[in-house]
Parts: sequence; structure tokens; C-alpha cells
Amino acid sequence: MQGVVHDGGIWSAADLANYRVAERKPIRFAYRGATVVSAAPPAAGGVVLAEMLHILGGFDLSRLAEDARDHVIIEAMRRAYRDRNAYLGDPDFVKMPIARLISEDYAAGLQASIRMDRATASDSLPGYAPRDSGPHTTHFSVIDADSNLVAGTLTVNLSFGSAYVAPGTGLLLNNELDDFAAKPGAPNAYGLVQYAANAIAPGKRPLSSMTPTFVFDGKRTAVLGTPGGSRITTMVLLGVLDFMAGHGPRSWVSLPRFHHQFLPDSVSFEPGAFSADVQAKLQARGHNLRGRSRRWGSMNAVMWDRNNNTLSAASDPRNEDGKAVVE
Ligand code: DON
Repeated sequence: MQGVVHDGGIWSAADLANYRVAERKPIRFAYRGATVVSAAPPAAGGVVLAEMLHILGGFDLSRLAEDARDHVIIEAMRRAYRDRNAYLGDPDFVKMPIARLISEDYAAGLQASIRMDRATASDSLPGYAPRDSGPHTTHFSVIDADSNLVAGTLTVNLSFGSAYVAPGTGLLLNNELDDFAAKPGAPNAYGLVQYAANAIAPGKRPLSSMTPTFVFDGKRTAVLGTPGGSRITTMVLLGVLDFMAGHGPRSWVSLPRFHHQFLPDSVSFEPGAFSADVQAKLQARGHNLRGRSRRWGSMNAVMWDRNNNTLSAASDPRNEDGKAVVE
């Protein structure tokens, strides 16, 4: 502490003494017969995942042509991130309409606003303007012999956090303040444009994108999550959709990813995420596509399949820092 103050920090001993770990009840919801359990605020993940999956629950994804399927997934991402940025923050400070945001009725209204032939411009949706004006993370997924599950995402925010080790402690300090809307309405390091609900205040916890998640569909149990800043929740969405389509962890961690976060109003995508034909059809609908040569994420995932009592695990091929072990 003294070292931090000596180096210009504004901590007091009381700040550290008063910090308490808070246990939050996870977000739990049903999606097409499966049960999904994920992180609650101050992580945005569970609410945003619920909203996206409920919107998508209104479409028969397996019957849609690939471009139409990708289009509705992008539109679900757009709408859920709009609500993330407008409403979510630390539950000790902000009253959030969580029950509404994760309800199927609410999703039905959002679904109805999706046009199949056109991208919805983010600035045409309510919530574009503030309602009141006022890399390195780690994820591990574990299933043990007693079927205990762990989905753990840990973050110091950007790589090496604040790049500062408090003298004499060996502790690397994070730069989690950037997960707040440091200046409401201005993008943070991940380009998220957020408002008063996630403004900085003393003692408040920043809104995270972390989405450590369990999915149970009766026969299979999935544990998944990943680092990746604002893209975490859409990576977990694509993983859950792939689980629901019957695939296993190797597929969830490897499949090419795409992402929309309301603002900027563009879809970023990894090589291979969209064929040339799908790209043309998404562009014809008005989606602003931004192909990226750099891939993102480092998903670690485990599945227990009770159909044949097998465990399978996979670590993202994009990174060599994870390892999948089944023993
Ligand atoms: O909690 C969050 O949303 C961010 N601090 C996560 C940052 C992150 O994943 C960086 N790693 N690639």
C-alpha cells in the first residue's frame, strides 16, 4: 500500500481493509430444453448470454441458410450489447431490470424487431443515446470425479494490468478501472460505449464481460468460458449454440468467431467465419463487415456426456497457454 501511495496512487489502508468478496447468485435460465448457468452482475455475461439465446430461441437456427443464421445471431448480439451498455453495472449501486432483460417475453419483442432482409442500424434502436446523461484474462473449466463443476474466469484487464507491481508485494495490479465507463459515452479500451449505470464511483465494482458458464441439456454437461474483453460473451454464445447443435469442446474452442457489440456498429469476424457468399449476403442486408486477420479468445472447455459417460476437454488452438487434460 505504502509503495502504491509513494508511486502516486491514491489508495488508503481503509480501501483495502473494507474490500469484501461478494458472492452473487448466478443467472440461470432455460434455452431449448437445456439449463444455462452463468455469471451475474457485476459481470454482464450471464444477462447478455440469456438475452441473446432467448432472442435466438425464436428462430429455428438449424433450418436457416448460413447467411440468415449468422444475420440473426449478429442482430441478437447487437440488441443484447445495447442493453448491457445501457442498463448493467454493480448491483450494489444500480437497480437493473434483470428479470425483464432475461425474460422470454422481452426477447420476443426484440425478435420481432429483427428484419430478415436488413441489418438494423444500431443508431436506429432505442437506447442509442444515454438514458440518463448523467489482454490478459484466464479462463479454466473443470469437471471432477464427483461431478463438481468449475468455470473460472480471472482478469487483470489489459495484458499485465496496470503494468505495475506494488513494491515489496510481488502483486501485479490490474487496470480494471477501464471496465467502467470512465467517461460515460466514450469508448473504453474494448470499444464498449457505456453510460451512467457503469460510471465510476467509490466502492463500486466495474461491469465485466466475463461469462463463465455451465450448460446442462439432460444428457450432457458443458463448462466453458474464455478471456477476450468485450468479445467474451459472444464467444461463449457461439460455443453454447455449437453445444446445442450437438458438437463437443474441440469444435466450440476452434470454430471461427464473429462479434457485434452494438457500438461500433460493425461485425468483426475471424478468417473463415463467413464464406464469400455469406459475406456478400450479410453486406447486402447492410451489415458493416470488418474482417480481422488476428483471431481472438482462448477458450478452455470441458464436456461430460452421460450418453456414453465420457469426458472430453479442449483448449483453444489460438493460444498455447491452455491445456486440455482428461484423466
Ligand atoms: O472483465 C472484463 O470484461 C475484462 N476485464 C476482461 C479482459 C480480458 O478478457 C482481457 N484478455 N484478453
